[in-house]
Amino acid sequence: MKKQLASLNIYSPGKTAEEIRTELNLESEMMKLSSNENVYGPSPAVEQTLQAAIQNIHEYPDAAGSDLKQALSKFYQVPAEAVLLGAGLDEVIQMLSRAILKPGDEIVTGEQTFVQYSHHAVIEDCTIVTAPLVDGKFDLEALADKVNDNTALVWLCNPNNPTGHYFSEEELTLFLNKVGNIPVVLDEAYAEYVTAEDYPHSMKLREQFDNIIILRTFSKAYGLASLRIGYAISSDEWTDLWHRVKLPFNVTTLSLKAAEAALADQAYLQRTVRQNATERARYYASDFKHHLLPSETNFVFIQTDDVARLNDYLLRRGIIARPVPGGIRLTIGTADQNDVIIEVLERYFKEEV
Ligand SMILES: Cc1ncc(COP(=O)(O)O)c(C=O)c1O
Repeated sequence: MKKQLASLNIYSPGKTAEEIRTELNLESEMMKLSSNENVYGPSPAVEQTLQAAIQNIHEYPDAAGSDLKQALSKFYQVPAEAVLLGAGLDEVIQMLSRAILKPGDEIVTGEQTFVQYSHHAVIEDCTIVTAPLVDGKFDLEALADKVNDNTALVWLCNPNNPTGHYFSEEELTLFLNKVGNIPVVLDEAYAEYVTAEDYPHSMKLREQFDNIIILRTFSKAYGLASLRIGYAISSDEWTDLWHRVKLPFNVTTLSLKAAEAALADQAYLQRTVRQNATERARYYASDFKHHLLPSETNFVFIQTDDVARLNDYLLRRGIIARPVPGGIRLTIGTADQNDVIIEVLERYFKEEV
């Protein structure tokens, strides 16, 4: 066995809404806002497409995912050869780690970020080098200082999960100029939700910096989390390398078809993204706004010294959020959900004073 597996935790999805409801003896419906799913669901076009696609589930999927790659290629104006499809970004992160990392290599990333970067670095017997976040965003200056000859891969999460804050194109360009030709992953799982104007135009930057690997997913703004489909866009040469570790039929026919339908319905995507931004603004207009880190995503990070107490308070009022070190990560709900949640949080912080 790989000795390093002994130190790894098995991913724990937490209790289901029903389990929590029974345990706490609650009568009301629970609001599951712990996984940053799209509370509005996917485009209605997805359901129709799936009904048609189900006729062919006895056949293996298109291993190359050609139609979806063509659609992404057209959408982003990148070559189809630059696209790698995966069963969610989780699998993409695994493929990149598997292709690049050797025992003894170092990865560089933020201290509090998406755990799968470190998880796979441990499996590949690598060392994890981190720099603390500043106000919930990656400190690119500090991270550039950590890059050295042993660095095999840099993982940047923008906006960052679990904090929600982002770094700008200017900060990123400075960083990329400093670190040279090391592979730099930009995990942009929440990019569609960003409204900040100085957010990096990564697809354009890719023309200037051929060492960036851009990650996007259909799990968040496109509302397809259960279908497990995400993708990486990098140089054609590197994408060829990732394909060498890819399982032949890693993405199902239903996922490919659903993703194509969701991508084609940009009007729906823009509507839900706008709705999210409107609802997000309500949190920043609340009485507890000074407890929030800035967010460009579909979640907010509520800072608190007593995470367990706030989490319990929310659970008892039917709100399932994600407790993490230093705070609670809460997916922004629908308008009706937020009416309840904002009131609950205002009461909590008033009682706390
Ligand atoms: C920053 C980030 N990257 C990647 C993922 C994985 O997404 P998926 O595997 O659903 O595409 C998530 C999911 O929460 C995430 O927050």
